[in-house]
Amino acid sequence: MHLNQSLMYKSETRQKVTIFTGSPEQTFGLGKKLGKTLRSGNNVALLGNLGSGKTLLTQGIARGLGVPGNVYVTSPTFTIINEYPGRIPVYHVDLYRISDEDELIELGLDELMGGDGVVIIEWAEKLPVRFLRDCNIKVELRVIDSETRKIIVTSDSEKVLKVVSNLVDQN
Ligand SMILES: Nc1ncnc2c1ncn2[C@@H]1O[C@H](COP(=O)(O)OP(=O)(O)OP(=O)(O)O)[C@@H](O)[C@H]1O
Ligand SMILES: [Mg+2]
Repeated sequence: MHLNQSLMYKSETRQKVTIFTGSPEQTFGLGKKLGKTLRSGNNVALLGNLGSGKTLLTQGIARGLGVPGNVYVTSPTFTIINEYPGRIPVYHVDLYRISDEDELIELGLDELMGGDGVVIIEWAEKLPVRFLRDCNIKVELRVIDSETRKIIVTSDSEKVLKVVSNLVDQN
């Protein structure tokens, strides 16, 4: 009963905004605006195919979070987790090579997600539901054509939704 109620509450407060970007720069710019709104404890799940723009969006988010331009932001394919210094710590996770939940536990993803930074997760399709639920921002990226991406942002944060809606209005 309690569980159901809390689930209902969550799904009611999450809303969706869809935006189309027409260039890599626009996706980066969206990321940067999103990054500016994020605070400690916000976790971002990125879902989408190879080349859909997850890393590019992460680069924008990191800059928006104050990660200096001389810090290289790239997919942590071999290390799985990169940490960047921003106005709060930024953890960049890529689950492409993860094959089971034990590996996630070993990585300490649980602690990171409950910590004082922002965790950005590429290939969040691989997250078990209980982890995915702890991501209050979900971004789904779809390739429309070589330059166009459909980006669907789901969040319980009004600030986040507003940033995306404002960009849509400008287009
Ligand atoms: N509108 C757009 N938004 C984002 N990327 C775009 C767009 N148009 C073209 N691109 C190109 O698509 C590629 C996106 O690459 P990126 O590494 O960000 O994808 P990814 O989702 O992280 O892929 P992977 O799953 O391999 O990690 C880049 O080469 C970028 O230049
Ligand atoms: Mg990537």
